[in-house]
Amino acid sequence: RFAPVILAGGSGTRFWPRSRRARAKQVLALDGESTMIQQTLERLLPVAAESDVWVITNKWLHDVISAQLPGIKAGHIVSEPIARNTAPACALTAFLLEKQGEADTVIGIFPSDHVVADVPRFSEVIKAGVRLAAAGENIVVLGVPPTRPETGYGYIEQGQGVALGEGSTVSARRVKRFREKPDKHTAERFLTAGNFAWNGGIFLWSAKTLAALVREHVPDMAPILETIAAAFGTADFERVFAEEYPKCENISIDYAVLEPRSSKGEARSNIYCLPADFGWNDLGSWASLHEHLGESDSSNVLDGPTNGLVAIESEGNYVYAPGRMVALLGVDGLVVVETEDALLITTRERSQDVSKVVRQVHEGL
Ligand code: GDD
Ligand code: MG
Repeated sequence: RFAPVILAGGSGTRFWPRSRRARAKQVLALDGESTMIQQTLERLLPVAAESDVWVITNKWLHDVISAQLPGIKAGHIVSEPIARNTAPACALTAFLLEKQGEADTVIGIFPSDHVVADVPRFSEVIKAGVRLAAAGENIVVLGVPPTRPETGYGYIEQGQGVALGEGSTVSARRVKRFREKPDKHTAERFLTAGNFAWNGGIFLWSAKTLAALVREHVPDMAPILETIAAAFGTADFERVFAEEYPKCENISIDYAVLEPRSSKGEARSNIYCLPADFGWNDLGSWASLHEHLGESDSSNVLDGPTNGLVAIESEGNYVYAPGRMVALLGVDGLVVVETEDALLITTRERSQDVSKVVRQVHEGL
């Protein structure tokens, strides 16, 4: 059995001012007709039953997600009372499934802010990953060949190759070490070293393996999630969830489990990396949206319903200004985003830092 868990509770602040709490990037059609979370579900349906899919989100997004994903089982769209980052969001389903006697079920963690170009290949890799995760206490992660010293991602140091059986079209390597979000200098070193991949943010493990990892590496979190799991499906659930969940440490799954686990050494940590060779892109910032939509680095991308663009001696800009005629004159690498009540002007290079703007806006100017 395979239970995909779609994570959709991030604040998505790097897409300010288009994304706001109640319209985070996951529920926007940043790329094409359907929204990012609809695309996330659609590409999972060749490998999983819709009734086995879970979505972990928040109260602002709950209703819009229910409307966008009408086929998800009632009760499987879980709204966190408060955001506690990805460790508790990932781990919660492990404890729920364990409680329901489904400890052998393989859980797949899927962010809802990714695009995948080659869906058939995605299915193949996920199927191979599910088999590997079901075969023991294995952690399966997906590695993306890095193309730049990105500091917004985690890095996977890869070790020895592992045969996945006769005829498998997917290769696997052991994982030596996880390095979440290194500084620029370190990221450059990783790129030069050659055996590092970006962490694709997709993880596969059985419910019992994940629960055991939480008990070992973030032991304070385990009893909290057990209490919540015990109340699941009862009239008390909302109250227990609201009381207990905020007690969880606010930490990402990468820092909570993967980094400490991988420090145990290649042979002992049981972590395998499969190649995310299906045209992976994390639409995590305006710069990545530019990369995704533009033909090349120097293209000017005019996104959204537009009224035309004049670009003179200007390269590599990203513009979103619905209904406007936009003119660029002698500027390169800018990000200009206009909504009804806000205007952002920055550079592609600084677009990881847009969350700083949001923080200041919230704190009051
Ligand atoms: N339910 C819930 N609750 N979901 C959350 C929360 C939360 O508190 N925080 C984040 N998420 C969701 C986001 O919406 C996103 O879909 C996913 O979890 C990953 O969170 P991000 O905040 O986007 O993480 P990241 O991009 O900084 O880093 C992770 O992904 C990278 C690749 O995309 C890490 O795993 C990196 O190592 C990795 O390279
Ligand atoms: Mg992300």
